[in-house]
Amino acid sequence: MHLFLTEPADEPILCDELKRTFVGAETELLAPGLLRTDVQLQSATPPVLAFARQLLPNAEPVNAVSIREWSERLFEAVASRLPESQPWRLHLAAHYGGEGAGGNRVRFIREAFREQLRKRRRQLLRLLEQAETPFHETTSLVQLWLTAPDTGFLSVAPAPTPWQLRRCVWPFVKGELPVASDKAAPSRAFAKLVEAEQRLGLRIAAEETCVDLGACPGSWSYVALNRGARVIAVDRSPLREDLMANPRLTFHQGDAFKFGPEIPVDWLLCDVIAAPERSVELVLEWVRQRRCRRFIVTIKFKGQGDYGKLEPLKHALPPLCKEFFLTRLCANKNEACVAGILPESPPAQPNS
Ligand SMILES: C[S@@+](CC[C@H](N)C(=O)[O-])C[C@H]1O[C@@H](n2cnc3c(N)ncnc32)[C@H](O)[C@@H]1O
Repeated sequence: MHLFLTEPADEPILCDELKRTFVGAETELLAPGLLRTDVQLQSATPPVLAFARQLLPNAEPVNAVSIREWSERLFEAVASRLPESQPWRLHLAAHYGGEGAGGNRVRFIREAFREQLRKRRRQLLRLLEQAETPFHETTSLVQLWLTAPDTGFLSVAPAPTPWQLRRCVWPFVKGELPVASDKAAPSRAFAKLVEAEQRLGLRIAAEETCVDLGACPGSWSYVALNRGARVIAVDRSPLREDLMANPRLTFHQGDAFKFGPEIPVDWLLCDVIAAPERSVELVLEWVRQRRCRRFIVTIKFKGQGDYGKLEPLKHALPPLCKEFFLTRLCANKNEACVAGILPESPPAQPNS
């Protein structure tokens, strides 16, 4: 069985998305936000699930009464199922009670488990990575989530599974990232761009050129300018004064949907408030015409029920992108965010 995590109360949205993705998918709610399904996950066509925060592939229920027993369970699984010569990561989490519940238990289990590795499998301990960077083809992932002090689920995903399923298995524990804050930014929208970069595993860099559509009041441009990039900002309203005065920013007053760069740019950033189908169409157009090398675009929703409008992105973008994700950010749970990196040269057209 596979377990998918979503925001509590959003289980029906994820159920619908699973049914759109896997025809006839049966789901069972195991704990708040935690859905079980037995669908076949194909590594050749890994699923894209915007409303899944995290996936535990091939999870199995586990029980243990003491810290020592939990550590033993983990040790047995890791020692028998992980390759001895490749990096791996461990996500240990509690999924019960309120915020912070189970935190101590998880910490003690981690310490006991590391101690066992130190005594019995030093090589595996050396290969244990603390990183939150995107998975490589050689990275394995072990996830143990406690749903009560004495029960939980264990998922062991040897390499290359985490990499193959990277559109819904995240390198962050429970798929979560803390929301960044910067009081000097013009608005809290700043946190969305920072999170999207972390999820993509790539940041806007000095000397790059960004088009920022729907840029006002200017948080996304602010991030790009602070990194030393040049920005072409497009909005109906001007950005904050200091940003407008920045020599690396060019402002175009007008309709974001009518704007096209003279030459391809490094980044398309787009946070326009528009109907979801318009934003979906915009990103597809920019990517198909290779107007940008990378993109981060938000898709806003007015009410529930519109989420099927994301489906064209899931089908069209993976073959056009080297990396790609479609998810709901922790920094804004009312919208989806699609981001990607295009290959250096366009993918070959199939012979017709
Ligand atoms: C959520 S705000 C963008 C916030 C911005 N990313 C930031 O970090 O400050 C959305 C912006 O989209 C702009 N907008 C909406 N429709 C637009 C259109 N058709 N063309 C240009 N701008 C548009 C609005 O004026 C608004 O400033």
